[in-house]
Amino acid sequence: MELDRYGLGRVVGEKGVLPQRAQKLDPSLPLRPGELLIDVDALNIDAASFKQIKDATGGVPEKMIGLIREIVATRGKMQNPVTGSGGMLIGRVREVDARHPAHGVLRPGDRIATLVSLSLTPLVMDEVKAIHPDIDRVDITGHAILFATGLYAKLPADMPETLALAALDVCGAPALVARYVKPGMTVAVLGSGKSGALCLAQAKRNLGGNGKLLALDISEKALETLSGLGLCDEALRVDATNAVETMERVAQATGGALCDLVVNCASVPQTEMASILSVKDGGTVIFFSMATSFTAAALGAEGVGKDVQMIVGNGYVPGHADLTLDLLRAEPKLRRHFEERYA
Ligand SMILES: NC(=O)c1ccc[n+]([C@@H]2O[C@H](COP(=O)([O-])OP(=O)(O)OC[C@H]3O[C@@H](n4cnc5c(N)ncnc54)[C@H](OP(=O)(O)O)[C@@H]3O)[C@@H](O)[C@H]2O)c1
Repeated sequence: MELDRYGLGRVVGEKGVLPQRAQKLDPSLPLRPGELLIDVDALNIDAASFKQIKDATGGVPEKMIGLIREIVATRGKMQNPVTGSGGMLIGRVREVDARHPAHGVLRPGDRIATLVSLSLTPLVMDEVKAIHPDIDRVDITGHAILFATGLYAKLPADMPETLALAALDVCGAPALVARYVKPGMTVAVLGSGKSGALCLAQAKRNLGGNGKLLALDISEKALETLSGLGLCDEALRVDATNAVETMERVAQATGGALCDLVVNCASVPQTEMASILSVKDGGTVIFFSMATSFTAAALGAEGVGKDVQMIVGNGYVPGHADLTLDLLRAEPKLRRHFEERYA
């Protein structure tokens, strides 16, 4: 059998369509050339997807489990049909095909986290053992398949798996911040949840005491926590779906100058314009949020005549997993916050 690097052969009924865009994947065994088989322990469902599932089921755990099971049974992957997003998983390696790049590197029983989205990962869910609504996690038994191009990280021995899982889920965000934040900048992070906290911590390191760091969120509690950890110079409580109000608060906090960079880490839709209006002309917005609409961002920026560089928050940045785990190691307060809140 020919090597199928992108898993095209796992797509059901849509020729030439990549697994991420496919309606349905075939997660059946046996393993095919170039694939890696994982016994799954837990899914970390993407924040935008989990919130949608919670809202659609009234937050009743049994109903949430029912909807998740239905999605996986119908699609052969955990891709929310409304948000289109997935998440990632942790589990144990069961088998590595001889033509998978991890052959000879990973051994059966090794514990890994996938770093590609669940939205393209063939998945069979045998049993749901528990759901943790506060941390977007579902403990399951089942199997998943990683293609030859599928990224993964070996779980570190010096921290609990649940902590690593929580951080690795959003590890692209601080890695992008590391790339774009330079000393002297004014930076705002919109959404002070999991990815927001990591972005703030990384931005603070990049600024090195030279610049200004704003945390924006709708939740007073989240802001209090991050301020308490010393992760921002100023915390602004805003509803980012209200773009003008958000811009006014940012303008106030920056003496009218606005920001060089805004990182959008919000879990809700319609926050594009709050981000765009809060940067200076010629500034940059990184849209990490999965609830971002390309149309709203592109037409919105045009509509207000704003020359702004807009970056789609690619979940993959070389070295992103190590950078994020090292950030937790280097920042004990941040690590404690993650252990208490997400692990
Ligand atoms: N690009 C990628 O590769 C990638 C990978 C993983 C995740 N993501 C996306 O990144 C985003 C953030 O993920 P996360 O895990 O950091 O989520 P999270 O922990 O839920 O944080 C999101 C934060 O946004 C806040 N928020 C909600 N509505 C808001 C509003 N109207 N105005 C201001 N803030 C608001 C939330 O407050 P409350 O808690 O009070 O609601 C929360 O603090 C999600 O959209 C997720 O899908 C992207």
